[in-house]
Amino acid sequence: MDQIVNVDEFQELAKQALPKMYYDFYNGGAEDQHTLNENVLAFRRIMFRPRVLVDVSKIDMSTKILGYPISAPIMIAPTGNHKLAHPEGETATAKAAAACKTIMIVSYMSSCTYEEIASSCNAVRFLQIYVYKRRDITAQVVKRAEKAGFKAIVLTVDVPRLGRREADIKNKMISPQLKNFKGVFSTEAQPGKGSGVQAFTSRAFDASFSWKDIEWLRSITELPILVKGILTREDALKAVEAGVDGIIVSNHGGRQLNYSPATITVLEEVVQVVRGRIPVLLDGGVRRGTDVFKALALGAQAVLVGRPIVYGLAAKGEGGVKKVIDMLKNEFEITMALSGCPTIDDITRNHVRTENERLQ
Ligand code: FNR
Repeated sequence: MDQIVNVDEFQELAKQALPKMYYDFYNGGAEDQHTLNENVLAFRRIMFRPRVLVDVSKIDMSTKILGYPISAPIMIAPTGNHKLAHPEGETATAKAAAACKTIMIVSYMSSCTYEEIASSCNAVRFLQIYVYKRRDITAQVVKRAEKAGFKAIVLTVDVPRLGRREADIKNKMISPQLKNFKGVFSTEAQPGKGSGVQAFTSRAFDASFSWKDIEWLRSITELPILVKGILTREDALKAVEAGVDGIIVSNHGGRQLNYSPATITVLEEVVQVVRGRIPVLLDGGVRRGTDVFKALALGAQAVLVGRPIVYGLAAKGEGGVKKVIDMLKNEFEITMALSGCPTIDDITRNHVRTENERLQ
């Protein structure tokens, strides 16, 4: 693994390690993948305004999210079906999260049970949920999460229907029976009719779920609730008004509505209306420590990483995931030093210049 020097190199290794159907599932975005590509490209259009002659002999990347200390503002985004990437599935990812002292957001669609993941490690875990038409099943999952020591619920709000992922349609991507719902609810979908994931989602997910239903979620759990999938100031305000405990600016890694904006380009409008009342996190296209710095400079408290984690897992298991996080942390640390920011609090809006801002 010593030869791997950046996160993107894991993508090629994952491609070699995985059957085409699974690699395409992990890699793909919606339709012609404009948003998927823009998530990465938009970060590249932001430049730094580095400050010099600051004492950067010690760099402290540590921070807290909802009161939980993490070693750096880099968390693991929820991604489903880790056993398609590696036989140990989410337990390997969770162990890497613990080793790196970060938070893992476990997917509702995970292949190991929530309880197995919980007992495999002592990482702080949040549980991501979708809401099924059978709301009793989702309510049960929330109860299980509480019992298994998950610290927050992340409600993903950008999947009333599944985006058109053309690779999955062509490959007839399978929707396996997930152990978490075994004996309670079938997550399998008929093969041979396009994307099994799409067929399952349209059968199972509640597309009528709306803002007023956040109250229902609030009524069944004491855990903090974050909403994942906010892209506008209007919805950010609604989220604050609904009393949620955090916002994740996300376009689902470009897998849902193609031509949604790159997340880093809308972060500031969200941060401006939230006015520090609740934490704002971001995901989508984070591939470098410099991206982490840019997101923090524009007001995020932390970022989540999706695909690179799965690629690390597919290529090298737990060690691969750990290496992905460690590389991002190392790059972020160097970025802080070269920008003149010894601590997270030192990173300000003045440390970056977006495309719209004239050279000064
Ligand atoms: C996802 N994502 C996702 N989100 C979610 O809330 N629940 C889920 O089960 C999944 N599953 C999932 C599977 C795969 C293979 C991918 C690539 C993504 C979206 C994920 O949490 C996150 O928003 C994006 O992956 C972030 O973008 P990057 O880091 O992949 O560019």
